[in-house]
Amino acid sequence: MSVQPASPAPTLTAPRALTIALDDGPRIVAHDDRYSDRLRCDHPPVNADPVELGEALIETAAARDRGRVVVLAPADLGAGLERAGLKTEAVMPGFYRGEVDCVVAGYWLDAERAESPVAGAVAEVLDLVDARRGEPVRPRPAVETCRAAVEDAPAIAALIGETFADYPTPSDDPAYVARCIADGAPFRIVRDGDEVVACASADPIPTARTAELTDCATRPDQRGRGLMQAILGDLMDDLREMDYPTAFTLARARIPGVNLAFQRLGFSLRGTMVQSCRIGQGMEDMNVWSRSL
Ligand SMILES: CC(C)(COP(=O)(O)OP(=O)(O)OC[C@H]1O[C@@H](n2cnc3c(N)ncnc32)[C@H](O)[C@@H]1OP(=O)(O)O)[C@@H](O)C(=O)NCCC(=O)NCCS
Repeated sequence: MSVQPASPAPTLTAPRALTIALDDGPRIVAHDDRYSDRLRCDHPPVNADPVELGEALIETAAARDRGRVVVLAPADLGAGLERAGLKTEAVMPGFYRGEVDCVVAGYWLDAERAESPVAGAVAEVLDLVDARRGEPVRPRPAVETCRAAVEDAPAIAALIGETFADYPTPSDDPAYVARCIADGAPFRIVRDGDEVVACASADPIPTARTAELTDCATRPDQRGRGLMQAILGDLMDDLREMDYPTAFTLARARIPGVNLAFQRLGFSLRGTMVQSCRIGQGMEDMNVWSRSL
């Protein structure tokens, strides 16, 4: 078997906001995400005509030669998006303010993009997660996490940069991380002496009163010791203090540790987004997990 060399990742640039006008309907904002070769539309208004919306997104993605469409939308739009040809990949209960479910829907313009090249590895992780469901949490010495300050941004950015060859947000840029922290996004870290050895953040979506737990990285020599579970557990407390009723994550589907960590913390698996974004080692499948807080 000959192995094709992976095509080099494009330079990460901020997704470009596009406004899409629907007939007699609200204007829709979507993001043209060149890095992950997709058109993404987050939280369109519930009064949008979902069939027209789905068709417009597919048309816009085709015009820009993008391989995929991703939509996160109020569940009432789900059936109409399916009529337009999109596939429901996951449903997160109570995503919007704890009250309204969110559908995650996809459409692949590129037939190869619709099939996961690592479906076997993803299925193995799901089997592992299934087999270990309900196991008691492993007893461990307490891990102390602390809320990161702006001064911690360079160390966090360095850890993310060392951990991920590809990453869909500029979290390896100290200025970007500093801006997120200054804007109020909770970041938590574990230190070993002076060094930051693990980190994660909660990226708030204030209008939905939910947050995406993201930027999960533990230095290789510290993995499997419960550091990430401690960080995520404390981030969940940060979100409870913000009075957020739910949290979610999009976890790399073929990495056992991150999926097991979220399961251990009481998250439920809601579905898998096939070849959703560029992270880690190229375009990857992402598992959708969420829970109420
Ligand atoms: C994913 C990651 C953040 C996990 O961090 P961590 O500090 O090792 O996580 P924890 O120790 O808190 O939890 C991991 C759990 O998975 C288990 N685990 C990890 N790899 C495993 C494997 N290959 N097989 C079985 N179990 C595994 C651990 O034993 C632990 O479960 P336990 O509490 O029952 O012992 C870390 O592996 C990492 O940085 N990976 C690379 C970056 C990445 O892919 N991040 C996720 C982006 S979505």
